Amino acid sequence: MKTPIRLSLALALLIAVMAQTQGTAAPDKDAEKSEQAVGAFMRKKLKLSEQALEGIVNEDFQMIQKAAEELDKMGRQKEWDVFSLDEYAHFSAEFRRIAKSLGKQAEKKNIDGAVNAYMQMTMSCVECHKFTRRVRMADATPFK
Ligand code: HEC
Repeated sequence: MKTPIRLSLALALLIAVMAQTQGTAAPDKDAEKSEQAVGAFMRKKLKLSEQALEGIVNEDFQMIQKAAEELDKMGRQKEWDVFSLDEYAHFSAEFRRIAKSLGKQAEKKNIDGAVNAYMQMTMSCVECHKFTRRVRMADATPFK
């Protein structure tokens, strides 16, 4: 009767180990998925800023306004908040302020004002990216 007990103990151990590795595999996949989702979300910003530029060069104010509104809306979505850091919140608020101003200039059909806001927005893209790259390098705050 000794062997069956040992056997069932070994089986129990095996099951426990399997359960554990499965348990660790799942979150990794989830993290990968959410990184991909964030990537797709972020790339939309590039599309929208291209649309804004297209609107500017063609003086299509409606196109500019639509892209600006969409960008402002993106800034309020939860996928945007990759980092829970004050600086990130600051860059986000600044970005949204500029997106709103771009929309206003388009509404006023002010092409020079729209170009100015567009350039500010591009700088705000770059500034926030510089910041996020620094954070990633320091590896201080990974994905939430
Ligand atoms: C407030 C910060 C912030 C602003 C402003 C910002 N981004 Fe990003 N962007 C991010 C973060 C965070 C990521 C994800 C990178 C990471 O997690 O390290 C990202 C990623 C991206 C990516 C790469 C997506 C991928 O994975 O392939 C593109 C493209 C992009 N942003 C475009 C833009 C454009 C264009 C603008 C301006 C119109 C902009 N971003 C403004 C924070 C910002």
